[in-house]
Amino acid sequence: MESMKLTDVNAMGWTAEMFGGRAKRLFDGPDGSHLDYVYFEANAAWDRTDPGKGPHYHTYHEWAYCLSGHFVIYEFVHPRQVEGELVHFREGTFMSRPAYSLHAGQGHPRAAFRQGPCVLLNYEEGPSEVLLAGPDNVPPDVVDWPDNFIRQSATSLEWEADPDLDGVSMKWLREDPIGGFRAKLRYVPGGWEAPQDKRAGFHGRALRFAYVLAGGMALVVDGERREVRADWFIEQPPGTVWAWDRGAASGTGCMWLEVTYASGCALSGEKVEDPQPAGARAG
Ligand SMILES: [Fe+2]
Repeated sequence: MESMKLTDVNAMGWTAEMFGGRAKRLFDGPDGSHLDYVYFEANAAWDRTDPGKGPHYHTYHEWAYCLSGHFVIYEFVHPRQVEGELVHFREGTFMSRPAYSLHAGQGHPRAAFRQGPCVLLNYEEGPSEVLLAGPDNVPPDVVDWPDNFIRQSATSLEWEADPDLDGVSMKWLREDPIGGFRAKLRYVPGGWEAPQDKRAGFHGRALRFAYVLAGGMALVVDGERREVRADWFIEQPPGTVWAWDRGAASGTGCMWLEVTYASGCALSGEKVEDPQPAGARAG
Protein backbone atom coordinates (compact mmCIF):
# COMPACT_ATOMS: atom_id res chain seq x y z
CA MET A 1 0.00 0.00 0.00
CA GLU A 2 1.24 3.48 -0.86
CA SER A 3 2.59 5.66 1.94
CA MET A 4 3.21 9.30 2.64
CA LYS A 5 6.46 10.45 0.99
CA LEU A 6 9.13 12.50 2.77
CA THR A 7 11.91 14.27 0.85
CA ASP A 8 14.91 16.24 2.12
CA VAL A 9 14.93 18.98 -0.50
CA ASN A 10 18.46 20.13 0.40
CA ALA A 11 19.74 16.67 -0.49
CA MET A 12 18.14 16.75 -3.96
CA GLY A 13 20.00 17.80 -7.06
CA TRP A 14 18.80 20.48 -9.45
CA THR A 15 16.63 18.85 -12.07
CA ALA A 16 15.39 21.58 -14.37
CA GLU A 17 15.68 25.18 -15.51
CA MET A 18 12.80 27.49 -14.66
CA PHE A 19 12.17 31.26 -14.64
CA GLY A 20 15.74 31.79 -15.79
CA GLY A 21 17.01 29.90 -12.75
CA ARG A 22 17.29 26.35 -11.41
CA ALA A 23 14.57 24.08 -10.10
CA LYS A 24 14.07 20.86 -8.17
CA ARG A 25 10.89 19.07 -9.14
CA LEU A 26 9.06 18.03 -5.97
CA PHE A 27 5.90 16.68 -7.58
CA ASP A 28 4.96 15.61 -11.08
CA GLY A 29 1.21 15.10 -11.50
CA PRO A 30 -1.15 14.29 -14.36
CA ASP A 31 -2.12 16.82 -17.03
CA GLY A 32 1.18 18.66 -16.68
CA SER A 33 0.69 19.67 -13.03
CA HIS A 34 3.96 20.15 -11.19
CA LEU A 35 5.45 21.59 -8.00
CA ASP A 36 8.94 23.01 -8.07
CA TYR A 37 11.47 24.44 -5.65
CA VAL A 38 12.94 27.25 -7.73
CA TYR A 39 15.99 29.46 -7.24
CA PHE A 40 16.52 32.41 -9.51
CA GLU A 41 19.08 35.16 -9.38
CA ALA A 42 18.51 38.88 -9.25
CA ASN A 43 17.42 40.23 -12.61
CA ALA A 44 17.49 36.76 -14.10
CA ALA A 45 13.91 36.37 -15.16
CA TRP A 46 10.58 37.87 -15.96
CA ASP A 47 11.83 41.18 -17.28
CA ARG A 48 8.71 42.48 -18.96
CA THR A 49 10.76 44.46 -21.44
CA ASP A 50 12.14 41.23 -22.90
CA PRO A 51 10.33 39.91 -25.97
CA GLY A 52 7.83 37.25 -24.92
CA LYS A 53 7.97 38.15 -21.21
CA GLY A 54 5.41 40.94 -21.03
CA PRO A 55 1.95 40.72 -19.44
CA HIS A 56 0.66 37.18 -19.75
CA TYR A 57 -1.78 34.68 -18.30
CA HIS A 58 -2.25 30.95 -17.89
CA THR A 59 -5.35 28.85 -18.41
CA TYR A 60 -4.91 27.06 -15.06
CA HIS A 61 -4.73 28.04 -11.40
CA GLU A 62 -1.25 28.24 -9.88
CA TRP A 63 0.04 28.94 -6.38
CA ALA A 64 3.38 29.97 -4.94
CA TYR A 65 5.08 30.59 -1.62
CA CYS A 66 8.23 32.69 -1.29
CA LEU A 67 10.68 30.81 0.95
CA SER A 68 13.42 33.43 1.02
CA GLY A 69 14.78 36.40 -0.89
CA HIS A 70 12.43 38.66 -2.78
CA PHE A 71 11.19 39.58 -6.22
CA VAL A 72 8.55 41.67 -7.91
CA ILE A 73 5.53 41.01 -10.11
CA TYR A 74 3.18 43.46 -11.77
CA GLU A 75 -0.53 42.67 -11.70
CA PHE A 76 -3.00 43.85 -14.34
CA VAL A 77 -6.78 44.12 -14.32
CA HIS A 78 -7.05 44.22 -18.12
CA PRO A 79 -4.74 43.81 -21.12
CA ARG A 80 -5.27 47.47 -22.01
CA GLN A 81 -3.62 48.50 -18.72
CA VAL A 82 -0.01 49.44 -19.48
CA GLU A 83 1.83 49.83 -16.15
CA GLY A 84 0.02 47.49 -13.73
CA GLU A 85 0.40 47.31 -9.95
CA LEU A 86 3.62 46.34 -8.25
CA VAL A 87 3.44 43.40 -5.84
CA HIS A 88 6.54 42.69 -3.81
CA PHE A 89 7.12 39.02 -2.99
CA ARG A 90 9.30 38.44 0.03
CA GLU A 91 9.69 35.65 2.57
CA GLY A 92 6.20 34.47 3.54
CA THR A 93 4.31 35.82 0.51
CA PHE A 94 1.67 33.34 -0.65
CA MET A 95 -0.19 33.67 -3.91
CA SER A 96 -3.12 31.77 -5.37
CA ARG A 97 -3.48 32.90 -8.96
CA PRO A 98 -6.71 32.07 -10.78
CA ALA A 99 -6.65 31.09 -14.43
CA TYR A 100 -6.59 34.18 -16.70
CA SER A 101 -5.06 36.40 -14.00
CA LEU A 102 -2.78 38.80 -15.88
CA HIS A 103 0.78 39.46 -14.68
CA ALA A 104 4.29 40.43 -15.78
CA GLY A 105 7.80 40.63 -14.37
CA GLN A 106 9.88 43.57 -13.27
CA GLY A 107 9.24 46.95 -14.80
CA HIS A 108 11.23 49.40 -16.81
CA PRO A 109 15.01 49.61 -16.44
CA ARG A 110 14.66 52.66 -14.18
CA ALA A 111 12.01 51.08 -11.90
CA ALA A 112 12.81 51.24 -8.19
CA PHE A 113 12.04 47.60 -7.51
CA ARG A 114 14.05 44.99 -9.36
CA GLN A 115 14.13 41.24 -9.26
CA GLY A 116 16.04 40.02 -6.25
CA PRO A 117 17.46 36.55 -5.79
CA CYS A 118 14.68 34.33 -4.58
CA VAL A 119 13.73 30.81 -3.51
CA LEU A 120 10.16 30.03 -4.45
CA LEU A 121 7.78 27.09 -4.23
CA ASN A 122 5.67 27.18 -7.36
CA TYR A 123 2.83 24.87 -8.38
CA GLU A 124 1.30 25.02 -11.84
CA GLU A 125 -1.80 22.96 -12.45
CA GLY A 126 -0.98 22.56 -16.12
CA PRO A 127 2.05 22.42 -18.40
CA SER A 128 4.07 25.64 -18.20
CA GLU A 129 2.71 28.04 -20.78
CA VAL A 130 2.79 31.79 -21.31
CA LEU A 131 -0.09 33.42 -23.19
CA LEU A 132 0.68 37.06 -23.92
CA ALA A 133 -1.92 39.83 -23.78
CA GLY A 134 -1.63 43.60 -24.11
CA PRO A 135 -3.18 46.75 -25.56
CA ASP A 136 -2.56 45.50 -29.09
CA ASN A 137 -3.48 41.95 -28.24
CA VAL A 138 -6.73 41.68 -26.25
CA PRO A 139 -7.85 38.05 -26.54
CA PRO A 140 -11.52 38.30 -27.54
CA ASP A 141 -12.58 35.04 -25.92
CA VAL A 142 -11.44 35.92 -22.40
CA VAL A 143 -14.35 37.56 -20.54
CA ASP A 144 -12.73 38.09 -17.11
CA TRP A 145 -9.24 38.90 -15.85
CA PRO A 146 -9.45 37.85 -12.19
CA ASP A 147 -7.29 39.24 -9.40
CA ASN A 148 -4.43 37.34 -7.89
CA PHE A 149 -4.93 36.38 -4.21
CA ILE A 150 -1.90 37.55 -2.23
CA ARG A 151 -1.25 37.02 1.49
CA GLN A 152 1.80 38.59 3.13
CA SER A 153 1.94 35.93 5.82
CA ALA A 154 5.13 37.03 7.55
CA THR A 155 4.26 40.70 7.88
CA SER A 156 0.48 41.02 8.02
CA LEU A 157 -1.26 37.81 9.10
CA GLU A 158 -1.84 37.03 12.76
CA TRP A 159 -1.49 33.53 14.17
CA GLU A 160 -4.71 32.03 15.47
CA ALA A 161 -5.78 28.76 17.02
CA ASP A 162 -6.43 26.04 14.44
CA PRO A 163 -9.96 24.81 15.21
CA ASP A 164 -9.20 21.47 13.58
CA LEU A 165 -6.23 20.50 15.76
CA ASP A 166 -5.77 21.26 19.47
CA GLY A 167 -2.59 23.11 20.36
CA VAL A 168 -1.82 24.06 16.76
CA SER A 169 -1.63 27.65 15.51
CA MET A 170 -2.35 28.59 11.94
CA LYS A 171 -2.33 31.39 9.43
CA TRP A 172 -5.07 30.89 6.88
CA LEU A 173 -3.71 31.66 3.41
CA ARG A 174 -6.47 30.56 1.04
CA GLU A 175 -9.79 28.74 1.14
CA ASP A 176 -11.44 28.08 -2.20
CA PRO A 177 -14.63 26.10 -1.53
CA ILE A 178 -15.67 26.35 -5.17
CA GLY A 179 -12.44 25.02 -6.61
CA GLY A 180 -11.66 22.69 -3.69
CA PHE A 181 -8.35 24.10 -2.48
CA ARG A 182 -6.95 25.12 0.91
CA ALA A 183 -3.64 26.56 2.06
CA LYS A 184 -2.48 27.24 5.62
CA LEU A 185 0.64 27.81 7.60
CA ARG A 186 0.62 25.60 10.69
CA TYR A 187 2.77 25.80 13.78
CA VAL A 188 3.19 23.47 16.75
CA PRO A 189 5.21 24.53 19.81
CA GLY A 190 8.01 22.41 21.26
CA GLY A 191 6.61 19.59 23.37
CA TRP A 192 3.33 19.43 21.44
CA GLU A 193 1.55 16.10 21.52
CA ALA A 194 -0.99 15.26 18.84
CA PRO A 195 -4.51 14.64 20.21
CA GLN A 196 -5.09 10.90 20.41
CA ASP A 197 -8.05 10.89 17.99
CA LYS A 198 -6.16 12.98 15.40
CA ARG A 199 -2.64 11.58 15.77
CA ALA A 200 -3.00 9.50 12.61
CA GLY A 201 -5.40 10.36 9.80
CA PHE A 202 -6.01 10.16 6.09
CA HIS A 203 -8.18 11.62 3.33
CA GLY A 204 -10.20 9.38 1.03
CA ARG A 205 -9.84 11.66 -1.99
CA ALA A 206 -7.79 14.71 -1.03
CA LEU A 207 -4.11 15.22 -1.87
CA ARG A 208 -2.03 17.10 0.69
CA PHE A 209 1.39 18.72 0.40
CA ALA A 210 3.41 20.07 3.30
CA TYR A 211 6.70 21.95 3.28
CA VAL A 212 8.57 22.40 6.57
CA LEU A 213 9.62 26.02 7.01
CA ALA A 214 11.28 26.00 10.43
CA GLY A 215 12.02 23.65 13.32
CA GLY A 216 11.15 19.99 12.99
CA MET A 217 8.73 17.24 13.99
CA ALA A 218 8.57 13.47 14.15
CA LEU A 219 6.19 11.51 11.93
CA VAL A 220 5.62 7.79 11.59
CA VAL A 221 5.73 6.22 8.13
CA ASP A 222 5.30 2.47 7.66
CA GLY A 223 5.80 1.99 11.40
CA GLU A 224 9.11 3.86 11.39
CA ARG A 225 9.81 7.14 13.21
CA ARG A 226 10.95 9.82 10.75
CA GLU A 227 12.21 13.30 11.60
CA VAL A 228 11.41 16.10 9.20
CA ARG A 229 13.12 19.48 9.46
CA ALA A 230 13.24 22.77 7.58
CA ASP A 231 13.25 22.18 3.80
CA TRP A 232 11.67 18.75 3.97
CA PHE A 233 8.77 18.17 1.60
CA ILE A 234 5.88 15.88 2.46
CA GLU A 235 3.44 14.46 -0.08
CA GLN A 236 0.37 12.70 1.28
CA PRO A 237 -1.51 11.02 -1.58
CA PRO A 238 -5.19 10.11 -1.06
CA GLY A 239 -5.63 7.11 1.21
CA THR A 240 -2.20 7.38 2.82
CA VAL A 241 -1.82 8.03 6.54
CA TRP A 242 -0.26 11.11 8.10
CA ALA A 243 0.79 10.10 11.62
CA TRP A 244 2.69 12.04 14.25
CA ASP A 245 4.95 10.21 16.64
CA ARG A 246 3.51 9.33 20.04
CA GLY A 247 4.39 11.60 22.91
CA ALA A 248 6.00 14.92 22.04
CA ALA A 249 5.98 15.06 18.23
CA SER A 250 8.19 18.14 18.17
CA GLY A 251 11.06 19.00 20.47
CA THR A 252 11.85 22.38 18.96
CA GLY A 253 8.52 23.48 17.54
CA CYS A 254 7.70 23.22 13.87
CA MET A 255 6.17 25.51 11.24
CA TRP A 256 5.06 24.25 7.89
CA LEU A 257 3.07 25.23 4.81
CA GLU A 258 0.14 22.90 4.14
CA VAL A 259 -1.78 22.79 0.86
CA THR A 260 -4.73 20.52 0.16
CA TYR A 261 -6.50 19.68 -3.09
CA ALA A 262 -9.99 18.21 -2.61
CA SER A 263 -9.47 15.78 -5.46
CA GLY A 264 -6.84 15.24 -8.12
CA CYS A 265 -3.96 17.64 -8.67
CA ALA A 266 -5.90 20.75 -9.72
CA LEU A 267 -9.07 22.66 -8.83
CA SER A 268 -11.82 20.06 -9.11
CA GLY A 269 -15.04 21.64 -7.85
CA GLU A 270 -15.16 19.16 -4.98
CA LYS A 271 -15.20 20.06 -1.30
CA VAL A 272 -12.08 19.49 0.82
CA GLU A 273 -13.01 16.66 3.18
CA ASP A 274 -12.02 16.39 6.83
CA PRO A 275 -9.33 13.82 7.61
CA GLN A 276 -10.57 10.54 9.03
CA PRO A 277 -8.87 8.61 11.84
CA ALA A 278 -6.42 6.10 10.42
CA GLY A 279 -8.30 3.24 12.08
CA ALA A 280 -11.17 3.90 9.65
CA ARG A 281 -9.01 3.17 6.61
CA ALA A 282 -10.26 0.19 4.66
CA GLY A 283 -7.76 -2.60 4.50
FE1 LIG B 1 3.13 33.51 -15.20
